[in-house]
Amino acid sequence: MIGSITLDRRDAERPGHVRPDGGDAELGYMFLPEAWGCGYAAEACAAALDWFADALPSEPVVLCTQTANSRSMRLAAKLGFTEVERFEEWGSEQWFGVWSSVTPSG
Ligand SMILES: CC(C)(COP(=O)(O)OP(=O)(O)OC[C@H]1O[C@@H](n2cnc3c(N)ncnc32)[C@H](O)[C@@H]1OP(=O)(O)O)[C@@H](O)C(=O)NCCC(=O)NCCS
Repeated sequence: MIGSITLDRRDAERPGHVRPDGGDAELGYMFLPEAWGCGYAAEACAAALDWFADALPSEPVVLCTQTANSRSMRLAAKLGFTEVERFEEWGSEQWFGVWSSVTPSG
């Protein structure tokens, strides 16, 4: 095992949500440092998002990461997440973004 990808319901009590009552599907990722820089995280996350788009069509997925975590910020952008807001949590600035398999119309 070199890492893990998670899709969980985000705690409605925490800052950051796109559904009015919270409980957004949230993507998480954590890989061993020796597996960084190979594209594995991007490949695994894209596969998880592909699966999610079939399982729960039209439901968005959110992601939260420290703005200081440049690898994570690059991965979020590569996967197609777009910024919703930034806020302070755990003593540092957090970036909160959303991804949707549905192409916006108009
Ligand atoms: C966030 C994290 C998953 C990013 O891992 P990563 O390996 O940088 O991410 P990617 O899978 O997108 O890989 C991108 C890198 O692989 C390189 N790469 C090499 N071969 C590649 C290939 N065949 N295809 C794609 N990318 C490739 C890219 O050039 C890029 O390298 P660079 O960042 O040095 O430019 C990892 O840093 C991590 O687990 N961090 C600790 C946990 C964490 O912070 N999680 C977020 C908490 S919210």
